[in-house]
Parts: sequence; C-alpha cells; structure tokens
Amino acid sequence: MTRANVYVTRMIPNETIEELRKVHDVEVNPLDRALSREELLKAVKGRDAIITLLTDAVDGEVLDAAGSQCKIVANYAVGFNNFDLNAATQRGVVMTNTPGVLDDATATHAWALLLATARRISESERYVRANKWEGWAPMAFIGQDVDGKTLGVAGLGRIGKKFARKAAAFDMPIIYTNEQRDLDFEKEFGASFVDKETLLRESDYISLHLPLLPETKYYIGENELAKMKPTAILINAARGPLVDEKALVKALKNKVIFGAGLDVFEDEPKLAAGLADLDNVVIVPHIASATTQTRLAMGKIAIDNVISVLAGGAPQTCINPQVLK
Ligand code: GLV
Ligand code: GLV
Repeated sequence: MTRANVYVTRMIPNETIEELRKVHDVEVNPLDRALSREELLKAVKGRDAIITLLTDAVDGEVLDAAGSQCKIVANYAVGFNNFDLNAATQRGVVMTNTPGVLDDATATHAWALLLATARRISESERYVRANKWEGWAPMAFIGQDVDGKTLGVAGLGRIGKKFARKAAAFDMPIIYTNEQRDLDFEKEFGASFVDKETLLRESDYISLHLPLLPETKYYIGENELAKMKPTAILINAARGPLVDEKALVKALKNKVIFGAGLDVFEDEPKLAAGLADLDNVVIVPHIASATTQTRLAMGKIAIDNVISVLAGGAPQTCINPQVLK
C-alpha cells in the first residue's frame, strides 16, 4: 500500500499519531491552537485524509480546498455539528466521529458539574483561596440536596443513558424526554418518559444530552427557565447553543433557578456578558471527554477510520453512510 498524506488539524495523543505514522505520512498543525479558517483552507490542500476537531468547520469550501483525492475527514469528537455532511456525501468524502468511547467520561463529567453546582464547590473554593474563610459557619454556602431528588434527562442517547444510570447511586427518580420511549430502560431504571413541560416543571436537576440540530437550538430559553423550579439546577455538557446563554444569565441573576453547571457555551471560547460574574454557575472549558484514557480511545477510532478508508475499506463509525453505497 502506498503511503498517503494525512493532515491533523491539532495535536491529539501522540501514541495515536505515532500509530498512524507507521502506515502513512502525517503532518500535524504545530501550533498549540486551532487553525484560522484561512490556515485550515491552506493546510488541507492535497491531503488524502484529514483529522479535525469540533472547532474546525468542514464544509464544501474546505473539501474543495483539500481536493478530489481526499477520501475521509475524521472528527476527533462524537458531536459533528461542525460538519456539512451533504457537502461531503456529494463529493464522495467519508465523514466519521468517535461515538461510544467517551460516553462514560462525558456522563461522569456531567455528574461532576451537577454535584459541584448543587454543593457550590467552585464558589466555596474561590472563597477559601481568597483567604476569606474564618471558620465553620452554620449558614455559609447552603446548597441543594441531591439524594432522592428528581433527575430530568433531556435526550436519552448513549451519553444520556450513561448519565441516567449513575443516578442510582443517589436514589433519584428519573424522568426523561427523548424522540422515542425506551421501555427497556424504563423497566430497568424505573424511569418515566415525560413531555418537555413536565420535565421542566418536575425536575430538580435537568441535564441536557441532545445533539445540536436546528430544532434543538435554544431548547432551554427564557420561557423554559421560567417553568423550572426556583431550586432547580441546569447542567449542559452537550452543546452550548442548546441553551440561550443570555437568557440563562438573566435567570441566574434573578434567581429564577438555583444554578447551572456548564461545560459548553454558545460562542466558545467567549462567554455571554455577565456569566462569569455570577457565583451560581460552575463554568469549565469544554472538557467532558478530557481524560487520558478517553482521549486515547477517541484518537484510536479516528486513526482506525482513516487507515480503513485509505485502504479501501469501510470505517467503523461513518456519519454519512450514503457515501458508502
Ligand atoms: C465533544 O464535545 C465531542 O463532541 O466529542
Ligand atoms: C459538620 O462538620 C458537622 O459536624 O455537623
């Protein structure tokens, strides 16, 4: 097999790059930052395969800049709202993602946010580090109970399900919304399928596990926040634009809800005005899959997909399967 020319838009775990170098020529963006649009258009030229990040918008223009020899664009992420699948299918380019291997890491991270928000961990740590702590205080940093509270899961896909299963540790009744009911899941976890209104009204915690699509944009906005309990907490480790961030800032400021735990933002890395000034929000920089083991596994899927497709085979995780027909 001749060695192909693969481009990686930013460094991913070195072990995976080394694995890929055994069979193909690999060039990695040497900068410790995402490429600009212009840099991306230039860098992809003449490549047979490209490994991209969720911060790289890959559309017809990028694919044309790469050239007709380009066979695959492998996203180093499970989400692929940065991809124009139709543009790729029209050009015969395979697109892949990294599903499955990050479900536990992402679900666990959503729990970390939930617990940190409920128990005001970030806020109280800032207080200690600022040398403000003067000793045990009966009314300081009063949070919300988690045990026995109602957990609302919006979206019962792979990650939503993993997230929901972990609620058993806290004896939480589970309610969920999804495109379809999952009777097996309901039976196993005593979960109830509800409509969005009920989810908003009855949940003590709502965690979003939806893909970003035109119809899920602003799934949570001003109206939805107004329907939530004043003690409720919103968790988002899915995609920023699922939440109207300006409306969330207003709701958090006015104590419409108790708090929010956010891994993702509407216009990363920018935050909505005022968000970072609020104490009742836990803010972390899109790190849900950021564990050594998970990132290695994601890299492995991406390079396996590249190697298979360049060898004329089928990838494990194609997201535009029409292209294989
Ligand atoms: C991260 O956000 C991913 O989609 O993998
Ligand atoms: C807290 O530390 C307690 O003893 O109640």
